Amino acid sequence: VTMVQDELKKIAAYKAVEFVESGMVVGLGTGSTAKHAVDRIGELIQQGILTDIIGIPTSIKTQEQALSVNIPLSDLETHPVIDLAIDGADEVDPDLNLVKGRGGSLLREKMIEFASKRFVVIVDESKLVDHIGGSGLAMPVEVVPFCWKFTAQRLELLFEEADCVAKLRICPKTGDPFVTDNSNYTIDLYFKKSIGDLKAAGDAILRLPGVVEHGMFVDMATTVIIAGDGGVTVKNK
Ligand code: A5P
Repeated sequence: VTMVQDELKKIAAYKAVEFVESGMVVGLGTGSTAKHAVDRIGELIQQGILTDIIGIPTSIKTQEQALSVNIPLSDLETHPVIDLAIDGADEVDPDLNLVKGRGGSLLREKMIEFASKRFVVIVDESKLVDHIGGSGLAMPVEVVPFCWKFTAQRLELLFEEADCVAKLRICPKTGDPFVTDNSNYTIDLYFKKSIGDLKAAGDAILRLPGVVEHGMFVDMATTVIIAGDGGVTVKNK
């Protein structure tokens, strides 16, 4: 029997919350997997099992969810060092490099996870890939709205050898460009061939004027918790 995917997400999330200790400053991730972790932290606070937790949300959506389950919140300026961050991912490679942002947020996630002493990623096994960007699915890049077509063209040019197609993310309901929490746009990159060295690719993207941040999280995760039909696997960097 294949466990439904949401159940696996929940199992990974609950496992990650076992690493949370009273008194910690905790980065709260975004997405359908991280949502379970936020709910669980709220529940443990409610039960008095966790005390003095300060949550740092990685999106407006997570901020709203965390408030609804009564997690005390702060921000990165007040708490520039985070003990532990828990978040999902769209892709995880064997070296624990990630693609994030398909769900719409990546910039706040990257800032907060960069500031975290420990970054625990929670996924179901469908997120495991051999090579990042090789799945044929989107690798998101957050860009300023100004002349976004120029930025999209330059991104395609940058990855010409990887046969890259750059598409502006559209809000399916309205047909308008999707706007991030930081009032930016998202350009999704699709590669037909390998993008090569991830760090070099990421640095080249960041050198393009108009780019704010990209969804490759290279060398950031310290732990990945993978839930599958065969049980839970914990991989450490
Ligand atoms: C939000 O945009 C993210 O980076 C998420 O962490 C990522 O998209 C994974 O989301 P799910 O847990 O919903 O798959």
